[in-house]
Amino acid sequence: MRPPESKNQRHAMVAFATPSCVAGHKDRNGRMTTFAATVLTLFPELFPGPLGASLVGRGLVDGRWTLEARDIRDSATDRHRTVDDTPSGGGAGMVLRADVLAAAIDAASPAGDARPRLLMSPRGRPMTQAMARELAAGPGVLIVAGRFEGVDERVIEARGLREVSIGDYVLSGGDIAAMAILDAVARLLPGVLGNAASIESESFSDGLLEYPHYTRPQMFEGRAIPEVLTSGDHGRIAAWRRAEAERLTVERRPDLLTRRRDAGN
Ligand code: ADE
Repeated sequence: MRPPESKNQRHAMVAFATPSCVAGHKDRNGRMTTFAATVLTLFPELFPGPLGASLVGRGLVDGRWTLEARDIRDSATDRHRTVDDTPSGGGAGMVLRADVLAAAIDAASPAGDARPRLLMSPRGRPMTQAMARELAAGPGVLIVAGRFEGVDERVIEARGLREVSIGDYVLSGGDIAAMAILDAVARLLPGVLGNAASIESESFSDGLLEYPHYTRPQMFEGRAIPEVLTSGDHGRIAAWRRAEAERLTVERRPDLLTRRRDAGN
């Protein structure tokens, strides 16, 4: 795929960056760090996009994390800034070249960079809340967001890319998947959400879906708030919420219960 002339001169974009001394957090080794995210993409102008809004966006401005979107095309070496080629062995679509992507990774991630490297792909391991927690406890992440049929297998091996999927459906590219992963991780960083209790009780944190929520008005189109929630009896409320969380999980995601049992909960 050749880019239109007007896009030939795009350059790496640094979305937001704040010195790490401002608002970092301790990584799993107890060292101060600011979670640093780098996305390698063919469409850097898509970032920060939704990651610039709301509490996660405020976290960027406050220096709780940094986000850099780099154009893979800047690592192409020919006049046309070509990044892909036809698949060896034939077939439909185009394949992202190993040499171009390796050069983009090397430029973004110098020797000693301890950040895990992810490749967004529908054939990857499914993203989970446990993975979000694990990433949030580390120094940051480098995410490759491809477009095209695929990425040359050799660069996946040579640069240690971990393929991750955000669900069993195919997107037109990895950028939206990268944003989903970064949103899930950034909201877990210290100081981003500002309400640790709501993180504790939300879906997946204890292997169950979240219970139903209600607020005023007391009556909406003939539907009342369940009596227990306005009873003031905290024991009954906790028991009701637990039972509802279990009911919804059985109904909608029985696979989560199996996983939970296997994890010893
Ligand atoms: N790229 C295309 N589809 C994807 C998916 N489901 N997850 C992650 N990356 C993708």
